[in-house]
Amino acid sequence: MQIRSSGAIMAPVFQGVSIMRVLGIESSCDETGVAIYDTDAGLLGQALYSQVEMHARFGGVVPELASRDHVQRVLPLVKQVMADADTTADQLDGIAYTAGPGLAGALLVGAGVARSLAFGWGIPAVEVHHMEGHLLAPLLEPDAPAFPFVALLVSGGHTLLLEARSLGDYAILGESVDDAAGEAFDKAAKMMGLGYPGGPRIAALAEKGTPGRFRFPRPMTDRPGLDMSFSGLKTFTLNTINDLGGKDALSEQDRADIALAFEEASVDTLVIKCRRAVEQTGDKRLVMAGGVSANRALRAKLAEQMKKRGVQVFYPAPQYCTDNGAMIAFAGALRLQAGESAELPIKVRPRWPLTELEKLQVES
Ligand code: KG4
Ligand code: ZN
Repeated sequence: MQIRSSGAIMAPVFQGVSIMRVLGIESSCDETGVAIYDTDAGLLGQALYSQVEMHARFGGVVPELASRDHVQRVLPLVKQVMADADTTADQLDGIAYTAGPGLAGALLVGAGVARSLAFGWGIPAVEVHHMEGHLLAPLLEPDAPAFPFVALLVSGGHTLLLEARSLGDYAILGESVDDAAGEAFDKAAKMMGLGYPGGPRIAALAEKGTPGRFRFPRPMTDRPGLDMSFSGLKTFTLNTINDLGGKDALSEQDRADIALAFEEASVDTLVIKCRRAVEQTGDKRLVMAGGVSANRALRAKLAEQMKKRGVQVFYPAPQYCTDNGAMIAFAGALRLQAGESAELPIKVRPRWPLTELEKLQVES
């Protein structure tokens, strides 16, 4: 599946700084994303190739297949985006790539291509943290949040609540102690035979669910703190399915009712923790990003709860909620602007705490 789009959007964060045009490459998991971001003209072009169909029959991402597929996709996508953005190599000021966290082999493909192009074209390369890419994606929008803000990052690999104090200065407030929220959606969907990725499928089914038929627990909401847990929801899902006679005995309505109960419990848990986070920090802005932030029930509930507290909620556009090259080009442009560039050895970091990032000194 391939999505192409281009069109200029300008981020206020770049107003008044020297102009830079950056190619971004994302290959941390099962999407190859490429984009060109210009700090003056905005996003000039982007393309995304999703491997979802290839992994679907295995019920999840197969790392080796992901790496091999990235090898085939990256260079054609780079060529395509450069043509779409009417950009030649000598017009580029740098190349940004996802250096972690993610699948080691998949990351190495993007890193290898990005660094080789940068060496060949004589321009700097910069390492981007995948979760910082997600975190900063709402800054691509015309109505961008100002710092500080609370951020809920909810993807297939991470569930994090943090306070973003300034660019690169992120304090973790809480995180999942076991599965990521997206991972729990994917696993619950697999238990019901819904296929991969589970999040959008559960969300679609939940719309047909009967409210109140099942009530799932809201894990770790009955005690103070901002850590979360999603593995119990998975077990509860399995027990509910077994009580109904197993996966194959489920009717379409059973599936929809379980999907609704699962979604409601996940959404409530995330919203309760967000509420506590803004109460704790006193911030009046909350950013939600990562694949699960595309969930409409979550968006609606969060908006309603935050409005009551005078907190403004910001999201990326739907195509920038899930993995994409635009967020990497954008975060890379910020880091290049601040004078960062990758050291000579090509390294990737499959595990990379967000708190280890350097705080950025951006001129204004
Ligand atoms: O950010 P992302 O594209 O990749 C990672 O960095 O993990 O997030 C993918 C995750 C998957 O677990 C997928 O099931 C979930 O986001 N997801 C959703 C929805 N759309 C994607 N979860 C719930 N509701 C959705 N509408
Ligand atoms: Zn992601």
